[in-house]
Amino acid sequence: MSAQNDASFFRMFLFVLGLLVLFTIVIMTAANIVSEGIEEKQGGDKRRQAAIEERIKPVGEVAVAKVGAAAAAPRSGKEVVSAVCGACHATGALNAPKIGSADAWQPRFDANGGLDGLVKSAIAGKGAMPPRGGGNISDEELRNAITYMLEESGIDVGGGSAPGAAATATKAVQAAAAAVQSVAKQAGEAVSQAAGQAMEAVSSMMGKAPAVEDATGLAQAKGCLNCHQVNTKVVGPAYKDVAAKYAGDGGAVARLAAKVRNGGAGVWGQIPMPPNNVTDEEATKLVKWILSLR
Ligand code: HEC
Ligand code: HEC
Repeated sequence: MSAQNDASFFRMFLFVLGLLVLFTIVIMTAANIVSEGIEEKQGGDKRRQAAIEERIKPVGEVAVAKVGAAAAAPRSGKEVVSAVCGACHATGALNAPKIGSADAWQPRFDANGGLDGLVKSAIAGKGAMPPRGGGNISDEELRNAITYMLEESGIDVGGGSAPGAAATATKAVQAAAAAVQSVAKQAGEAVSQAAGQAMEAVSSMMGKAPAVEDATGLAQAKGCLNCHQVNTKVVGPAYKDVAAKYAGDGGAVARLAAKVRNGGAGVWGQIPMPPNNVTDEEATKLVKWILSLR
């Protein structure tokens, strides 16, 4: 009886144990199915994919970078501008500084301390302008594009495009050029001062020596030729006739010079000669010239 009890208990025990194991397996399977379902709903796949990408990423990136660098040499400024920057900078859209407007660019060039600063500013983006103008553009291409826009706007980019030592050298050259300019300016001032003094000297000489002037010119300037001609009688007698009349008369010069200054009438007809606005010297000179005409 007790052995039978033991045996039936043992069978019962095994049965229950088996049930428990089976139950555990069912539960675990169910749990697995349920959790997979949840994971799927939450984008578990994506997470796994992201994890995979993360693992392979460095290899992939290096490969891409190499391929990109080999495939595309940096584009010229013009190319970049017409592809990307021109959208705003050609038209001035969004108040972008317009290509061709020195007024728009110069203050920015100055405020950023030159090309390098503008490149940095363009890399970071500014105001309505997205970083790198919103394009996939390398630093070098940005620099090319900005240089192009500045040059198109008539701004002297100077040494800014040469980084490092070259820039320093360019600055030194600029400083030297400035020094040369100031020396040249001083020299120029000295020269023009000297020239001014020379001019003064010449004009004062000319002032002291009116004799240099041509007698015909003086006659013209004093209005004598309004009434006299050399060969023909007009209002007054022809100067050749005057010369003929007084040929050999020693006192004629003084007398005629006085008449020229004071005016007079009765020698050549009824028309009088009004007083002329000439000095003694001028009158004498004119009369000598008249009497020399043949
Ligand atoms: C979507 C329009 C837009 C595009 C595309 C664009 N820009 Fe601009 N850019 C602007 C605007 C707007 C400003 C003025 C921003 C401000 O001062 O608020 C500006 C300013 C600048 C400045 C002056 C920054 C400063 O600090 O004054 C530079 C340099 C510049 N852009 C370069 C570029 C280059 C190079 C490209 C092409 C790769 C480009 N931009 C493309 C809109 C644009
Ligand atoms: C408005 C006209 C007029 C102007 C200007 C004029 N003359 Fe006469 N000139 C005359 C007339 C008229 C006579 C003749 C006077 C006479 O019959 O005595 C004359 C006579 C002379 C005579 C001869 C005088 C004589 O007694 O034989 C001389 C020389 C002369 N003029 C020189 C000059 C000179 C030099 C000037 C310029 C500075 C000058 N004239 C300007 C009208 C003019």
